[in-house]
Amino acid sequence: MSKIRELQIGDEKKLVGLFVTLTGKEILIDSASSVADHDAVCLVIEEDDALIGFGSLIIHKVPTKGEVARIEDVIIGENHQGKGLGKMLVLRLIEIARERKISKINLTSNPMRTAAHKLYEKLGFSKYDTDTFFLSL
Ligand SMILES: CC(C)(COP(=O)(O)OP(=O)(O)OC[C@H]1O[C@@H](n2cnc3c(N)ncnc32)[C@H](O)[C@@H]1OP(=O)(O)O)[C@@H](O)C(=O)NCCC(=O)NCCS
Repeated sequence: MSKIRELQIGDEKKLVGLFVTLTGKEILIDSASSVADHDAVCLVIEEDDALIGFGSLIIHKVPTKGEVARIEDVIIGENHQGKGLGKMLVLRLIEIARERKISKINLTSNPMRTAAHKLYEKLGFSKYDTDTFFLSL
């Protein structure tokens, strides 16, 4: 039986495999700082003591928009995909954003991630016409 819960200190080692699937790199996140940060909502999906899903809502203020959020790092373990868990996780993040009176959720996703795009469209996300830029520092 799988359940969604908030990230806890000590979860980081159990998440390394998931992040390899998402990024190709072994990432040990700083769970203590994420847990302490009220504006970084990190959810995990737990099943039989393993963590099989992760997703986060990062909340910040924009002067002209008030509080907005980004969804980051949504991932369901390869053996657990296609069972509705990704949908359940993103719906919970949206629900938390509504509870916190967030006016908009943004996210970016590589065009090759077709399953993710279908999921986001199904949940009501629209594509911006504007381009997204980044500067690596
Ligand atoms: C994208 C991802 C999070 C979806 O999670 P999931 O648990 O597999 O998806 P769900 O079972 O909840 O499916 C929800 C909807 O997503 C879409 N979807 C899921 N898998 C799909 C696939 N392989 N092909 C096309 N659409 C798919 C469908 O619209 C589906 O709804 P439906 O079952 O009613 O048709 C998961 O596949 C994943 O972790 N992929 C690798 C990492 C990734 O791309 N993360 C997103 C970064 S932006």
